[in-house]
Amino acid sequence: MTRHILYHELSDMREDVRAFLDRPKAILIGGEFVEKASGGTFTSEDPGLETALAEVPAAEQAEVDAAVDAARSAFEGEWAKMVPAGRAGCMFKLADLIYQNLDQLAQLEGLDTGKPAHIAAALDIPFAAEVFKYYGGWATKVRGSTLDLALNPEQFHVYTRAEPVGVVAGVIPWNYPFAQAAFKIAPALAAGCTVILKPAEQTPLTALRLAELVVEAGFPAGTVNVLTGFGHTAGAALAAHHGVDKLTFTGSTDVGRLIAEASAKSNLKRLTLELGGKSPVIIFADADMDKAIPAAAAAIFGNSGQVCNAGSRLFVEASAYDRVIEGVAEIGKGMQLGCAMNAGSELGPLMSATQLQRVSSMVEEAQRAGVTVVSGGSQGGDKGYFFEPTVLTDMDPASSIATDEIFGPVLCAMTFNDDDDIVAAANDTNFGLAASIWTGNPGRAHRVAHAVKAGAVWVNAFGVFDPNLPFGGYKESGWGREFGIEGLNAFLETKAVSMHIGA
Ligand code: NAI
Ligand code: MG
Repeated sequence: MTRHILYHELSDMREDVRAFLDRPKAILIGGEFVEKASGGTFTSEDPGLETALAEVPAAEQAEVDAAVDAARSAFEGEWAKMVPAGRAGCMFKLADLIYQNLDQLAQLEGLDTGKPAHIAAALDIPFAAEVFKYYGGWATKVRGSTLDLALNPEQFHVYTRAEPVGVVAGVIPWNYPFAQAAFKIAPALAAGCTVILKPAEQTPLTALRLAELVVEAGFPAGTVNVLTGFGHTAGAALAAHHGVDKLTFTGSTDVGRLIAEASAKSNLKRLTLELGGKSPVIIFADADMDKAIPAAAAAIFGNSGQVCNAGSRLFVEASAYDRVIEGVAEIGKGMQLGCAMNAGSELGPLMSATQLQRVSSMVEEAQRAGVTVVSGGSQGGDKGYFFEPTVLTDMDPASSIATDEIFGPVLCAMTFNDDDDIVAAANDTNFGLAASIWTGNPGRAHRVAHAVKAGAVWVNAFGVFDPNLPFGGYKESGWGREFGIEGLNAFLETKAVSMHIGA
């Protein structure tokens, strides 16, 4: 039986969204909107209806070179001349413009990614605006320090300066396109850097709208440049470019490795890499199940599982296992799949035919290997890339379904018996992005939190995100941290100035 899907009518589109889709799309280079690019154009589609939304320019090497030049000129010119309070002012203005255009941006984001527009309006778009406000605050608070030398303090007056790293490229994925754009641009600007943003080829639209808002906010030309294009052309050109001082990336671990190679072979540009995950949700039998069960479901089904920190491995203490698995499966069965502009939609489709194929074939392979499908397990609807919320059990913990990132609404559920057991199982992965621990015992919560190798640990909670809270991965989940002062420091170089003052 195929599941009932709530489709949307394109006539429900807001006037200002239709107007944006209807006008020619332009990339932004050095303050100029450019409609023609070397690679021609490519199509962005609505993954809910499988229909084309817009044609957008495909930037390649020539546009990358022009954008790097523009960003360099702004970095050494107008943006550098603007005092920190002025830079903060531009960032606050941009945040205000995002709030003023919230409903338009949310619907555009929904159409391009498939996610429900009401969720984008409540979460993705306001969070992006708050990240610009938060880092706008930091723009006036960047500072160095004075220090004493260890060996001859009387001889020298020493201080450090925190200086912007330079021209930054931001390469982002399609799961949270607008928010990711803010995560890359905002801390770089606060540090005094200039930016070239390359959105994912699947979701170029809100980045192009952001480019218009950047100009409206009054940033000097070249401070923020936006290039739509493919990863193997525009993305690779940025990663290999000698004029890019730092690249900040979110996406697959495979592409993260390619970018690290390109950096090593070019100018050793600095890198922040936010990569994949296979994050554990650990539920002890003494947890508050009324909270833990819905949270475990939201952890894997939210955004249709297309989340780097998705809680994709669920570990439940043996005595509570049946209750939890049944509870999560029931929630999955009750979730309403649908298109972005239908107000009743709770879960959107997967991003693309490629992602649907990838998720389906991983689940099929697991079934052939003897895994039990407790709920879901197949495509939903006859149109759109929908996949049912799925709960799997009885897998070999070393099999690919239990160890590889699926990036869909597919949960691998397992059981454990004691604290040592669970720490070893949770850490038995090449990833280390996040972990969620549910227990009524605070001592155990802290012990497990310390022992788990992950950059973010949430106790009796899941998915705590805040502009002031550092986020990033251990192991193959990446390099560096975003958000907070750590996220700002990622765009600063430390210069140590030693002045001889002794006789
Ligand atoms: P991807 O890693 O290929 O794409 C992310 C970004 O990297 C896009 O902007 C893309 O254009 C760019 N890119 C691709 N190749 C590049 C290259 N050689 N040099 C520079 N930039 C390049 O992700 P994809 O293929 O769309 O998704 C595949 C899998 O990646 C997913 O199934 C999921 O497992 C994982 N993924 C993880 C994300 C996360 O948030 N950690 C986000 C998106 C995907
Ligand atoms: Mg799209």
